[in-house]
Amino acid sequence: MAKFLVEKSSSLHGEIEVSGSKNAVLPIMAASILTDEKCQIMDAPVLRDVDVMCRLLESIGSQVKVNYEEGTVEIETSSIIAKEAPYELVKKMRASILVMGPLLSRTGQAKIALPGGCAIGARPINLHLKGFQALGADITEGHGYVEAKADKLVGANVYLDFPSVGATENIMMAAVMADGITVIENVAEEPEIVDLANFLNKMGARIKGAGTDTIKIEGVEALNGTKHAVIPDRIETGTFMVAAAITRGDILIKNVVPDHVKPIIAKLKECGVVIEDSDEGLRVHGDINELISTDIKTLPYPGFPTDMQSQFMAFLTTVSGPSVVIETVFENRYMHIGELNRMGANIKIEGRSAIIQGNQKLQGAQVISTDLRAGAALVLSGLVAEGTTEISEIYHIERGYTNFIGKFRALGARINRIEE
Ligand code: EPZ
Repeated sequence: MAKFLVEKSSSLHGEIEVSGSKNAVLPIMAASILTDEKCQIMDAPVLRDVDVMCRLLESIGSQVKVNYEEGTVEIETSSIIAKEAPYELVKKMRASILVMGPLLSRTGQAKIALPGGCAIGARPINLHLKGFQALGADITEGHGYVEAKADKLVGANVYLDFPSVGATENIMMAAVMADGITVIENVAEEPEIVDLANFLNKMGARIKGAGTDTIKIEGVEALNGTKHAVIPDRIETGTFMVAAAITRGDILIKNVVPDHVKPIIAKLKECGVVIEDSDEGLRVHGDINELISTDIKTLPYPGFPTDMQSQFMAFLTTVSGPSVVIETVFENRYMHIGELNRMGANIKIEGRSAIIQGNQKLQGAQVISTDLRAGAALVLSGLVAEGTTEISEIYHIERGYTNFIGKFRALGARINRIEE
């Protein structure tokens, strides 16, 4: 069982380069199934989740070549040998569900192990299935699996009750070769949706409106192979911005799309953090002003991202004054609060709100990473807590951040990985 040992560290200084986006590369890899030609994905992050997606694609019949030094993943699916995402892979990575739309589109059939819930919520897939049914698929469920079948997918109008990122991606991928026009309303507007739409359009799809609340797709006969560089990871960017703030440091973050992190820039500036946007990247100064509290409400993009909620909350325990955080996207994304309170934070949950007292002197403790972003929050708190913080269940962190420890150590963080 691997753990992180984090010691109280001095303010972080220096520069880091953000890796490719986990939440962009995974749907794009799944989309490569839609053609029998080769797809080359550049700037792919080195992540356990990417490995799992490679294994899943190989089990479906893809030839996959990964070159982590160059950050490229080559995928060629000349034939499909299985139309299924088995439980042993889905339980490792919920994003396996993203092969359902492409498999259904390419073969008329897809059988996926139901992902089940996770620490942050029930994570249902009803909206994915609603889209597939609207396009003409028959859905059957049983023994922990869900299967979609369609002789022909026909363009349709779909309204999403919630702007679900995964549902938007899956339905878009199912619709690109359907007969006729598909209009999906109340869709997710995240940058990862736009990146996937750009990839699909490079393959020959006809998608309009990605990044707005309505996507229109004109079905085409077939798609071709293509090359595509994925966008930088906006959540990794935000995590290092908060690292500069919580340690009162000064970090230059390179390979950033500032537009993708606007809410994080806005909220950090409200706390007194000075942020300079230059050609080199984002320079984040946590060491200039006394940092004060602010309130956060997570919302679908372009609102404040739920994936930054726990990291920002860790920071808010160290500023002057109380803060309120409201999580509106997932129903159970406060698991990190118990762990932060074990480190001396003073956070109370009132309904869907968390009230955070500022100016807390955190102490190192043994804590558990309950999800990917909660783990990052505990590392951030460990950097400023007196003594040593021992974080277990760190596989969550390692599946979602590229060279996590290396990047933090390059900035002066005292953090080690131990095997027990
Ligand atoms: C994606 O998950 C991301 N994962 C998540 O990142 C991110 O937190 C989330 O979007 C929200 O931004 C990837 O892209 C691989 P959703 P996804 O469908 O698609 C409800 C991380 O840390 N919902 O937008 O699963 C759902 O219960 C991960 O990198 C339905 O009700 O998120 C949730 O409350 C964590 N029915 C809300 O929508 C559905 O059919 C948002 O879920 C689908 C979703």
